[in-house]
Amino acid sequence: MRKRLIAGNWKMNGSAAASRELVAGIVDGLGAAEGPETLVCPPFPYLAAVAAQAEGTPLAVGAQNVSEHASGAYTGETAPAMLVDVGCRYVIVGHSERRSLYGETSAQVAAKYAAAQSAGLTPILCVGESLAERESGATEDVVAEQLDAVLAHSGVASLAKAVVAYEPVWAIGTGRVATPEQAQDVHAFIRGRVADGDAGVAAGLRLLYGGSMKGDNAPGLLAMPDIDGGLIGGASLKAADFLAIVAAAATN
Ligand code: 13P
Repeated sequence: MRKRLIAGNWKMNGSAAASRELVAGIVDGLGAAEGPETLVCPPFPYLAAVAAQAEGTPLAVGAQNVSEHASGAYTGETAPAMLVDVGCRYVIVGHSERRSLYGETSAQVAAKYAAAQSAGLTPILCVGESLAERESGATEDVVAEQLDAVLAHSGVASLAKAVVAYEPVWAIGTGRVATPEQAQDVHAFIRGRVADGDAGVAAGLRLLYGGSMKGDNAPGLLAMPDIDGGLIGGASLKAADFLAIVAAAATN
C-alpha cells in the first residue's frame, strides 16, 4: 500500500508571520490520528523558519525549486545541499510555472531531479499538458516526453526515491479541476510507462494529482486507484482548506 501524500505548494505567497500562522494551524489540525504524509513547500526565505517550526511534528518541508548545480557562481540559485541544510526533505522540480515562465526544459528538470536526489532530497517531478495539447490529443506524448527525460538521465530505479505529480496546466489555479477519470487515465499511463521499465518501482511510486484540488473534489480524485495524493496550490494557503484535503486523504 502506497502511503498517501498531501503536499502544499504555496508558490510566491505569504509572509513570515502568515507562514508561522499557517504552519501552526496545520500542525494543530493534524492531531495524533494516523493520516496521510503531509508536506508544505513555502517560498525560499521562509524555509528555514518553517522547517524549525515543523521539526518534531508530522509535517515535512520542501522547496519549490532547486539548482542543478552543487555550488559556485550561480547568482540567485539555491543548491540542493543548502535545502537539506535548512531542514527540507522534498523539492518540487519541473513545475509547469517553471517550465513555461522560466523556460526550464525537460533536460534541465532531469538535471535538477538528479542533483536533488544526490543531495538526499526526494524530488517531486511535475508533468502535465496545456489545454491546447490536451485538445489536440497530445496529452500522453507530452507527459511521456517529460517523464522520459528523467528516466533517460537517472534510470527507472531512481523513481523508488521520488514522487511524480500530474498537474494538467489547464487545471492549475483555474478552478477547472480534471475529472477523476481524466486524472486517473493519465496516472495509469504514467504508472504503466514506469512499469515498462520496472514493475516493482511502478507499484510503489506515489502519483499526486495537482490542479484546483479542494476539500470538496478531493474525495472523488483520491478514490481513483492510481491517485495517491495531491499537490495543492490555492487550497494550501489556508489551514482549514488544506486540512480538509488531508481529511479526505485519510478516509478515501
Ligand atoms: P492550484 O491548486 O491553485 O490549482 O495549484 C496547483 C499547483 O500548481 C500545485 O503545484
